[in-house]
Amino acid sequence: MIQDAAIVILAAGQGTRMKSKMAKVLHRAGGRTLVEHAIATALDLAPPERVFVVVGHQAEAVGEVVSRAGVRAFEQREQLGTGHAVMCGESYLAGTGGLLIVVNGDCPMVRPETLRLLVQRYRETGAGAALISTDLPDATGYGRIVRAENGDFVAIVEHKAATEEQRSIREINAGFYCFDAAAFWKHVHEIRTDNPAGEYYLTDMVEILIEAGHRVTAVKIADSSELLGINTKAELVAVDAILRERKVNQLLADGVTIYRPETVNVDSQVVVGADTVIEPFVQLSGNTVIGENCHIGASSIIQSSSVGDNSEIHPFSVVSSSRLDSNVHVGPFARIRMGAHLHDGSHVGNFVELKNTEFGVGSKSMHLAYLGDSSIGSKVNVGAGTITCNYDGKKKHRTTIGNHAFVGSNSTLVAPLTIADEAYIAAGSTITQDVPPSSLAIGRSRQVNKEGWTPKR
Ligand code: UD1
Ligand code: MG
Repeated sequence: MIQDAAIVILAAGQGTRMKSKMAKVLHRAGGRTLVEHAIATALDLAPPERVFVVVGHQAEAVGEVVSRAGVRAFEQREQLGTGHAVMCGESYLAGTGGLLIVVNGDCPMVRPETLRLLVQRYRETGAGAALISTDLPDATGYGRIVRAENGDFVAIVEHKAATEEQRSIREINAGFYCFDAAAFWKHVHEIRTDNPAGEYYLTDMVEILIEAGHRVTAVKIADSSELLGINTKAELVAVDAILRERKVNQLLADGVTIYRPETVNVDSQVVVGADTVIEPFVQLSGNTVIGENCHIGASSIIQSSSVGDNSEIHPFSVVSSSRLDSNVHVGPFARIRMGAHLHDGSHVGNFVELKNTEFGVGSKSMHLAYLGDSSIGSKVNVGAGTITCNYDGKKKHRTTIGNHAFVGSNSTLVAPLTIADEAYIAAGSTITQDVPPSSLAIGRSRQVNKEGWTPKR
């Protein structure tokens, strides 16, 4: 933790270049919104009460993400530029002394170590401000670092305001700043809007502080990859690809086997245990947690779900917001959703859908079934083609099936319905009444055989 630092994340802009109705910082890279990335990095450096996010465009939606992340937001009602954005926090931040760290909300890959280096160099050089720079092969759009002939840092010139000659400068401002808070608040109102965009540029603080006799340090980072800013969809997906590559490399290092990792999409927060095998084209998203020694079949999608140890998801299965315990088998082509819970050793086979259903220890439903809003006990066998009719057109109703029950193929179970322990349902039945324990229910018309019928036809 960095002592006596407040961190401000700039996240009020619309992100015009994204050509989107949604605020830029709500777009996702690596499965997380850009603002969540920035907050996670900030929380590595400072406690939550000293992290602030400037919100403005779609303030409510961004603010919701911010408060869920446990930090505070303040509003910039009109987006008049990055300098103005920080000014909007004056009542929260001025007078606290110490350091003021400002980070762009659209640079999700920066590592906390890099920001720590920024602070360290700020302290070492006794500067009034320090910021991170890097060389980019194509610096288009970025603010350029202008240096004097002796190499001294003089100013940042924004791309729009830069001369042809300045545009050939490859050293750019990455959008991470550490200010002496007292100096910042003393001079921030000297920022003018005399630039092509008519905005209050935070970057003008460099010249202002130098003018006021402070030293300003540019900390140049050799590896520019973590400093890429996101202004367009193309940049968003490029950063997303890098974050996902980082994630699968981390999982490989942690002992997860991932075949053709370049085809696998794993969100940043996903946890996978050692010795689990992940086949090509798998997607793991949200806060999914997979145990050890599992096998996740090709093209399966697991969203915000947990999977216990030694479980197997066969190819092309979709699991969302559900819980699978240990030694569970699912798929191929299964769909498990909305709070379904598969207990230890249960099996769900091809073309089976489970919704909001408890599926007991060792129970099986191997083919072609819909089990919705149900509580199914242990060691139950659900035959192929079984359907719980849970919806009467207005309301949803529950189906309860006791332990060791046997549901014959092609049964239609009309809820609300209770089938007690050890009951049998004859194949092809439509069951509308509760079934007592250890009994056989048959709900179908009797078969009639007309002998010698064929020759007479
Ligand atoms: C900014 C820098 C530029 C730097 C680049 C690095 C300025 C003036 N320019 O340019 O020197 O090279 O980042 O990526 O700072 N924002 C607000 N309120 C506003 C405007 C912007 O909160 O009124 C937020 C945005 O939501 C965004 C961040 O500030 O998260 C940066 O804004 P953006 O418009 O992306 O600035 P760049 O043009 O990228
Ligand atoms: Mg930007």
